[in-house]
Amino acid sequence: LASIEFDLSKVAEGQQVVVKWRGKPLFVRYRTPAEIAAAIKDDHAELRDPQTDEQRHKPGKAQWLILVGTCTHLGCVPTFGGGEYGGWFCPCHGSVYDTSGRIRKGPAPLNLAVPDYAFLSDTKVKVG
Ligand code: FES
Repeated sequence: LASIEFDLSKVAEGQQVVVKWRGKPLFVRYRTPAEIAAAIKDDHAELRDPQTDEQRHKPGKAQWLILVGTCTHLGCVPTFGGGEYGGWFCPCHGSVYDTSGRIRKGPAPLNLAVPDYAFLSDTKVKVG
């Protein structure tokens, strides 16, 4: 299956770019320090699909969150900036994800998926 390369220098801090990968949206988010801090603070909260924030990004690259942008309930595309955890909100049935993309509320069973990817350089990632 196809892999893609993406230039991270196109994304500003606090922004998210959506690219298409294998027919699905991929969220490439450059997190702010506040978003990262909020995610780490909730590492030991009661999580439906327990994962620490560290497990959801590459080592030393906490600012970059790369996620498959489809809700794990029925596949709608969540929007960033909604919901009370500062992350994503799915408009279809109200699932709420935090700034780590972890499911916090609503019917979705799992965190937003992290695809296989690797850093080719400081500014380039290869997904898939
Ligand atoms: Fe997202 Fe149902 S598809 S909450």
